[in-house]
Amino acid sequence: MQVQVKIEQIIQETREAFTLVLERHPQIEKYQPGQFLNFFLDIKGEEVVRQYSFSTSPYLNENPGITIKRVPGGLASNYLGDQLKPGDNIEVSTPNGRFTTSTKNGRQILMVAGGSGITPLYSILKTILANEPDSIISLFYANRNADSIIFRNQLDSLERQHESRLKVTHFLSENNNETLDNGIYRRLNPKDFQKYMDTYWKHNPEAFICGPDSMMKMSQEALINLGVLDERIKTEAFVGSGFGENAADYEEAFTEVIIENFNGAPVTFSANRNQSVLKSAFDAGFRLKHSCLESMCGACKVRLLSGKLDMKTNYALPGDELDQGYVLLCSGFPESDVLKLSY
Ligand code: FES
Repeated sequence: MQVQVKIEQIIQETREAFTLVLERHPQIEKYQPGQFLNFFLDIKGEEVVRQYSFSTSPYLNENPGITIKRVPGGLASNYLGDQLKPGDNIEVSTPNGRFTTSTKNGRQILMVAGGSGITPLYSILKTILANEPDSIISLFYANRNADSIIFRNQLDSLERQHESRLKVTHFLSENNNETLDNGIYRRLNPKDFQKYMDTYWKHNPEAFICGPDSMMKMSQEALINLGVLDERIKTEAFVGSGFGENAADYEEAFTEVIIENFNGAPVTFSANRNQSVLKSAFDAGFRLKHSCLESMCGACKVRLLSGKLDMKTNYALPGDELDQGYVLLCSGFPESDVLKLSY
């Protein structure tokens, strides 16, 4: 379902990130913390769909807010950042996504965010602090430098307000002349999880992870190796099914994709391993079959003939289709040098 909503305000969060404060709308205001909206954009006559997460909490903020980070060269994020102004209407979906939480007081939680991956986590974090007086959160937040930390002041003030319940550690790969007391100037690594678990393993922590693929994989593997059960770890590849454009922030590797029978003929294109095959196909000018973009409808399914593909989410394919080798391209990220697919 698509709805028109008005932008009430635009807040500049960092040089690259901004929040669109939306009007209250009956189809949107019942969102869950951590969910996202599909944005349906018409950019120079081309239909562009992107997913962006709520950074607000439905329990705390009167108006819903969506935070977006500009991606260098990114079509949609720069269009939104350059063209939109308060009073404009945008076309969006109703809220989507399973990267959310229900109220369970007394939890020990580890959140791991990379760059704009903080957006859904910030929504969840604020909600837990407000609704669960005995829950304790540690946030590992990775960024390039102090200037690129989205919600830095807000997190500082939440930490002061909830001294015994929130601990934020910033992992920064560059030191731009400003040394943060709670900053560690290197990349996040498995030893950081070891240290965390040494202290908190007794409390059976649960984890929420959102960021670039490589960071999510490392964090998830580290936690599983330290005994955290897979079902206690929730992950989100930025937002939605990874059909966004934020992945362009990170190192790139490519896969050659061959579809044997697209409109009756073979096609080949190069796919970025940091995004879904469907997104790469669109970038290459091939409009493959799709509909929901959220791994739910099955419209983008193809058969994997050879190569490796990681389906981030799948709510559409039953076990027998998986056994037959079907995969979803809207949530499938390529992992091998070559992928052969067939309709
Ligand atoms: S487009 Fe609906 S499952 Fe991929």
